[in-house]
This record gives sequence, structure tokens and C-alpha cells, in this order.
Amino acid sequence: MHYPFWDVGIGYGILMAAVAVPHVFVSHFAIGGGLYLIVAEHAARRAGDDRHLAYLERLSRFFVLVTLVFGALTGVGIWFIIGLLNPAATEALIHTFVWGWAIEWTFFIVEILAAALYYYGWRHMAPRDHMVLGWIYFAAAWLSLFVINGILTFMLTPGKWLRTGSFWDGFFNPTFWPSLVFRTGVCVMLAGLFSLLIASREEPADFRARLLRRNSAWGITGLAIMAPSFFWYWRAILGQVPSTAVQGMTTPVYWIHLSYWLAAVIAAALILFGLLLARRLHVAVAAILMALGLAWFGAFEWFRESVRKPFIISGYMYGNALEVAREPIYRKNAYLRFISCPSGDEAADLFRHACRSCHTVNGYKALKPAFDGTDTAFIAAIVKSTDLLRGSMPPFWGSAQEADLIAAHIRDRVDTRHLSEIYGLHGSELGKKVYDVRCGGCHRIGGATDKTGSLAGLADADYEGLLDMASELGEGMPAFTGDAAERAALIQYFKTLKHGGAE
Ligand code: HEC
Ligand code: HEC
Repeated sequence: MHYPFWDVGIGYGILMAAVAVPHVFVSHFAIGGGLYLIVAEHAARRAGDDRHLAYLERLSRFFVLVTLVFGALTGVGIWFIIGLLNPAATEALIHTFVWGWAIEWTFFIVEILAAALYYYGWRHMAPRDHMVLGWIYFAAAWLSLFVINGILTFMLTPGKWLRTGSFWDGFFNPTFWPSLVFRTGVCVMLAGLFSLLIASREEPADFRARLLRRNSAWGITGLAIMAPSFFWYWRAILGQVPSTAVQGMTTPVYWIHLSYWLAAVIAAALILFGLLLARRLHVAVAAILMALGLAWFGAFEWFRESVRKPFIISGYMYGNALEVAREPIYRKNAYLRFISCPSGDEAADLFRHACRSCHTVNGYKALKPAFDGTDTAFIAAIVKSTDLLRGSMPPFWGSAQEADLIAAHIRDRVDTRHLSEIYGLHGSELGKKVYDVRCGGCHRIGGATDKTGSLAGLADADYEGLLDMASELGEGMPAFTGDAAERAALIQYFKTLKHGGAE
């Protein structure tokens, strides 16, 4: 709230992903590639293999172009985007890690210079000097990973820092080491998969087969580092993040489990096509392997971002920039007076700061489906109870009047017809829709707070009574404010519920 809000049309999540995903792929690839080049150069020089050296020179041109130009541009892009999307969190990261950033940028500059000179040096330097430069390039690149890894893992598992505020506690936090080893494995794997792709088009065939075997070995080595270190990382996270946060994240966790199979498939394919049948490896297979490798890594990053919800810095700041420590201040004074650069439309400002950093009304993570066909009182009740809904959301610490303003703002932007009209439903089907919209966010059938057990098999009068006193059934549960037809349909739906419908 202490910074103005940047109200871009598209969702924050999409914007962030569009810049961060390519950057993360390219930056890991740059580190692994640096190591790959220098190790391969040593081998090629020892064997006096000129063809191999020429291949490495071509590979390094690509590296310098992609990693330096693209990696640097997207890296600067990330700063730009996080500064705009979440200035408060960016400020917290800068304050906590000033020297970390300074060191990071120093490594980065050394990496860029060394990489550019390394490419230039193929033809203009003595072999020994050239190889020293190659090692400097790789060392600087890996050390920049070392630093950024401390800051990234800090955001998910700040550990003792929450109490001490000390740089070292934040930096060497509980997931620092497993994540560093895992990411190093990713670097090696990506270097292997990518050079496999490039090599799959080399001629003549026996040279190609030799390269493919070498590159597959890199891919397999990377996987061999990733699999156990991921397990280590996962255990470290479970020790830090409440188990409910992990349970709530069914989709990313499902992908993580699936990703073990993915790793097995990649390893098997590398052994089969890359090592045993190297002469037959088709470019398309190499391209698929590359895509699978990126998918595995992508699933990891997605999982990491997901378990951190609702926080941007766990235990310290929520995704919408609310600082945990300021709860009493907001509860006492509400939000409005803290909103800087007010736009003149209080409702819009409140909506932006409370919800807009994660939701749009119509587009990315749209609120419309949840609120179409409802009413202001219901929306206001949900605004006040977001932390009860599925999806790990921040709590709402504003005043009741502020919740009403947000509700009116949302209500003006959703479909205000009746649910029956919007969806063309009636009877118990309409009742099910009413349930999904007005109850399901908190009591998903089959979920942890399923109420089928209490709802099945009651008499009409009991259902009426239950809906009359809905707001008294639980702290934060909304009153039933649907119209008579919706109430009747909902009761009709209740009657279809069976005991034991819960898990
Ligand atoms: C820190 C991010 C964040 C903030 C801030 C946030 N939400 Fe959410 N919200 C989520 C996530 C994540 C989900 C899960 C939905 C998904 O994965 O698509 C969600 C889901 C929802 C749902 C749908 C629940 C369902 O059953 O599908 C509603 C309604 C909702 N949010 C309303 C709000 C409102 C109103 C606000 C502002 C007062 C708000 N949210 C603020 C992250 C956030
Ligand atoms: C914003 C979240 C929220 C919504 C939406 C919501 N509830 Fe609840 N409900 C709660 C909470 C919190 C409790 C109290 C804790 C508990 O029993 O899980 C509760 C309790 C209940 C109970 C008491 C259960 C018992 O075993 O005593 C019933 C029944 C119930 N809700 C039914 C409904 C129905 C029907 C709807 C839709 C008309 C609904 N709830 C909508 C949050 C919600």
C-alpha cells in the first residue's frame, strides 16, 4: 500500500512468468554450458581433435549470443517487472541483501566479459589462456547462481531470519544447500540435452555418434544429481511449510510426483538413444528430450512458486504486499489511509491492493465465475473470508465498510442476472450451481471441509433453518442471500446428498 499500484490489463502472474520462465531456463543453461564447453575443450585439445574444437567454437558462438544477450535482457526484465509488480517485496529483498546483490552483479559482469572474450579467444589466444578464461566464465556463472539461490530460497524458507533479521540466517536458509545442488544438476542436464540437440545434426556420422554419447552422459549426470537433491529439497520444505499449504496445492504436487516419472523417461531415452543407439538418434527425439527436460525443471519452479502462496516472502509478506507484522495496525486503522497515490476511486484502489495482484475480474485467475449471479452482501462476506477459501489467500484486515466497497466494485463488473438465467439451469441442477458458487469455495464436496455429513438427510424445515442462520454456523461463513428460487433449488440439491458422500 505504500507504493502506487501498477494496474496492467493482463494478470501479474502471466507477466511475471513471461519474463521469468525464459530467463530461468537460459540462465541455468548458461552455467551448465560454460562447464560443458571448458571440459570438452580440455578433452579435445588433449586428443588433438580439430573437428571437435571447431564444433565447440560454433557452439560457443551460440552460447555467447543466447546467454548473454537473451539472459541479460530477461534478467534486467525481471528487475523491471518485480519492481513494478511488487515494489514492497523488491524493497525488502534489496534491503535484506544489499551486499548479496552487489556481489551478484559483480559476478555477472565478470561472467559476461569472460564469455565474450572466450568466444573471441578461439582464434586469438594461446590454448592455455583460453582455457583459463573458460574456467573463469564458468566459475563466475556458477557463483552468481550461488548468490541468487540464497535469495530465491530465502523467499520460500526464510527460517531463522524471521526472528533474527540477520543476512546470514536469511541467506543460508533451510533450503539453500539442497536447492543449490539441485540447480547445479539442472545446469548440467540442460547443457547435456541442449548440446545433444545441436550435435544431432552434425556430420559425419561417427563424429556425431561420439558427440551424442558424450552429451547423453552429461544429461544423465545432471539427472543423477537432480533426483536425490530434489528429494532432499522436498524434505527440507516439508520441515518449513505447513503441511496444509502442501495439501492445498494438489495440482503442483501432482506434477511433482509425475516429474519423477518424467526424469525416469528422460534417463531411459538418453541411455537408449544417446548411448546405445547413438547412430540412430533423430533430431526430433533430441528436441523432445530437450522439451521434457525443460518441462521437469518448469514443474519444479512452478511447485516452488505455488507452495509459497499466499506469501511472497514466507511468514513475512503476503503476495499482495501486506506485511505480516502490520496486522494490528491495519486492523485498527483499516487500509484506505495507507494507500499511497490514491486514484480518487476508493473502491478501485482497495480492490487493487487487496485482490488485484493475484486476480483479474475477467482474465487471468478471473473472479467473475465465482461472483456471477451473486450479490454484494455475499461478495463482501467472501472478501472478508478469503483466507478460508481454497487457494491459500492472504487474510483481509480492512474494515467492514472497505469490504463493502470492494464488493460493490466487483459486483459492478460481473454478470448480475440470476444464476438460473446465466447458466440456463433449474431444479437440483440449479441447486448444485448455487452450492458451487455460494458454498463450494469453502466446502468442496470431497474436500477437507466437506459438509455432506451434516447436510444429508435433513427435513425441509431443518434446511430452511440452516440457511436462515447460515452466518452463525461458522466464523466467516456468509449469510444465505440468494433469492427464493435459489434457496428452493439449493434445498432440492441438499436432498440428493447422501451420508458418507464425504471422502
Ligand atoms: C496472494 C494472491 C491472492 C490474493 C491477494 C487474492 N487471491 Fe483469491 N485466489 C488466489 C488463488 C491462488 C486462488 C486459487 C484459484 C486458482 O488456483 O485459480 C484464489 C481463488 C479465489 C476464489 C475462487 C475460489 C474457488 O473456489 O475457486 C475467489 C472467489 C477469490 N480468490 C477471491 C479473492 C478476493 C475477493 C480477493 C481480494 C479480497 C482475493 N481473492 C485475493 C490468490 C489470491
Ligand atoms: C467463506 C467460507 C464459507 C462459505 C462460503 C460457506 N461456509 Fe459453511 N462454514 C464455514 C466455516 C468457517 C464453518 C465453521 C467451521 C466448520 O465447521 O468447518 C462452516 C460451517 C458450516 C456448517 C456447520 C457444519 C457442522 O458440521 O456443524 C454447515 C452445515 C455449513 N457450513 C454449510 C454451508 C453451506 C450450505 C454453505 C452455502 C450456502 C456454506 N456453508 C458456505 C465457512 C463457509
